[in-house]
Amino acid sequence: MLSKLSSGHILVTGGAGFMGSSFIRTLLKRSDFTGRITNLDLLTYAGNLNNLGTSKDDPRYRFIQGDIRDAALLEKLDQIDIIVHFAAETHVDRSISAPQIFLETNVLGTYQLLEYVRAHKETHFHHISTDEVYGALGREGKFNEESPYSPNSPYSASKASSDHLVRSYAQTYAISTTLSHASNNYGPCQYAEKFIPLMIQRAQEKKPLPVYGSGKNVREWLFVDDHSSAICAILERGERGEVYNIAGETELTNIDLLHRILDLLGGAELRELITYVTDRPGHDFRYAMDGSKIRTLGWRPKWTMEEGLKETIKWSNENNLCHSS
Ligand SMILES: NC(=O)c1ccc[n+]([C@@H]2O[C@H](COP(=O)([O-])OP(=O)(O)OC[C@H]3O[C@@H](n4cnc5c(N)ncnc54)[C@H](O)[C@@H]3O)[C@@H](O)[C@H]2O)c1
Repeated sequence: MLSKLSSGHILVTGGAGFMGSSFIRTLLKRSDFTGRITNLDLLTYAGNLNNLGTSKDDPRYRFIQGDIRDAALLEKLDQIDIIVHFAAETHVDRSISAPQIFLETNVLGTYQLLEYVRAHKETHFHHISTDEVYGALGREGKFNEESPYSPNSPYSASKASSDHLVRSYAQTYAISTTLSHASNNYGPCQYAEKFIPLMIQRAQEKKPLPVYGSGKNVREWLFVDDHSSAICAILERGERGEVYNIAGETELTNIDLLHRILDLLGGAELRELITYVTDRPGHDFRYAMDGSKIRTLGWRPKWTMEEGLKETIKWSNENNLCHSS
């Protein structure tokens, strides 16, 4: 076992966001989890405590509103066994129009947490990263854990920088780390600026559905709760210092994905709302990862795309996308 996941004090950064909240809900659902979780989140536009649902009332959970860049705040926390670091600025379009906060949060924020671990070597640090750091693929091939970095947006460059910092701190200061790159996640509680919730919301409101370029860009999709179980697998069965690609293994062009969503929303006529808009600058054509390494830990995605999309639509109906702007 790499770390004390089921009995330790787990600091989750960005736990009010989309993926961090899924991880907290997943851990608290486990009857063998006797530890405690501290959720440290600044509650930016992307954070929403409603994402925690009933977890908010669980005695094993507490929330602290604060900034990962606040070194003094980190020092006030009880001894931490594991940091699972989700907090970040995450929207590529925002990184193109206003990159600075991406450097401040994603690079300097990660640096501050690593400084904490450097001073508290008993703490294990798990860094959540993205397939986007590898850059774009053509029609063939997949990235693996040895693929060179080639980020194309300020967002992916800031994530790549933070990944390099994690590696360098492990090498230089002998801290305990693991790092994972995930495919595009989707599921309940995703902020409605990202493709899937945005399209669901707009289709339900019968508004135009903007698709970049020709819609032929390919993404690999992973249901968010599968991502959470993958992080548990890494923390329980992974090896210190290792990198794992969490591949969703479902590749779709954006336009095919949108057609599937519209079919589930029940109307071929909804396709008439699709409008093609000028492509995003530096838009990566295709992402795909080889997931064979993480499969050696006994993990594989459980949710099919059909099941995951139905669950996401169900959530947006029940919540009236209350989390969107
Ligand atoms: N969404 C995806 O498809 C995807 C895929 C691969 C990797 N990732 C990575 O996963 C992580 C989580 O992504 P997400 O989609 O859940 O993000 P999100 O935008 O939904 O949530 C980010 C959370 O971080 C918090 N936050 C931002 N700045 C902070 C700060 N300075 N201090 C404390 N909290 C702060 C926000 O309030 C928010 O709750 C990110 O590191 C992202 O790069 C995301």
